[in-house]
Amino acid sequence: MLQIEHLTVSIEGKVILRDFSLSIKKGEIACLMGPNGIGKSTICKVLMGDPHYKVEAGSIFYKGEDLVSLDVVERSHKGIYLVSQNPISIEGVTNAEMLRAALESKTGEKSNFFEFNKKAKAICEKLDIPLEFIHRGVNEGMSGGEKKKNELLHLYLLEPDLILLDELDSGLDIDSLKTLSESLSQYKTKEKSILIITHHISILEYLHPDTVHILKNGRIINSGDYNLAKKIEADGFSAYEVCEEETYE
Ligand SMILES: Nc1ncnc2c1ncn2[C@@H]1O[C@H](COP(=O)(O)OP(=O)(O)OP(=O)(O)O)[C@@H](O)[C@H]1O
Ligand SMILES: [Mg+2]
Repeated sequence: MLQIEHLTVSIEGKVILRDFSLSIKKGEIACLMGPNGIGKSTICKVLMGDPHYKVEAGSIFYKGEDLVSLDVVERSHKGIYLVSQNPISIEGVTNAEMLRAALESKTGEKSNFFEFNKKAKAICEKLDIPLEFIHRGVNEGMSGGEKKKNELLHLYLLEPDLILLDELDSGLDIDSLKTLSESLSQYKTKEKSILIITHHISILEYLHPDTVHILKNGRIINSGDYNLAKKIEADGFSAYEVCEEETYE
């Protein structure tokens, strides 16, 4: 699904990722952990095509296609979706307006008003969010947790294949975390992959990851399974110093 090799990325002349490599298979749930300010959100933004981030070296392939030359709209059309750590608000544009425009842009066909409303209503019920969200401004005036739920409403309507969850769990209460995680488990098939970025193990108890990676010094310094996340929860990151022998291949 995704193959990142020897990637170097900078912003404002500052190198954030250096020789960063990561592969995610079709159907895989991968988890990326690392200290604050180490470059986890940077990876998400680079994958989505944020033009502020400069790819200095390396390659990114998605479903076998070179991603670096594509813009954010093309990447979205091809099935990549980012739930941002800090979702932005768009005042005066409703969820329905934005999503119908996004669907029409993706499919090239006019979206059916009744079908759209029916599907959006079913998703709101599944996510336990009020139906009025459909006609509310995109994230406008929403609480931190409500914004995360609203982002998942977008996700289920756009039906992506590669889902990037940048701290979905931050700001969610315990019940909401369970509801949203279970909805993602139901959505995920063997054709879809998820990259979870988190500081906490709770979300991983619902969305059991196949692989767990630690990011430090611009690249992955250790990889393992769910047990690695449990070790980090217990011991923190200081136990994982950059060691050439442990470099992730
Ligand atoms: N526009 C910018 N100008 C300068 N530095 C930036 C800019 N944007 C991001 N950075 C820096 O890039 C580094 C990586 O940031 P990033 O948001 O990827 O960290 P993170 O691993 O997601 O951290 P957290 O766990 O706190 O979310 C940080 O040191 C951040 O200050
Ligand atoms: Mg971040």
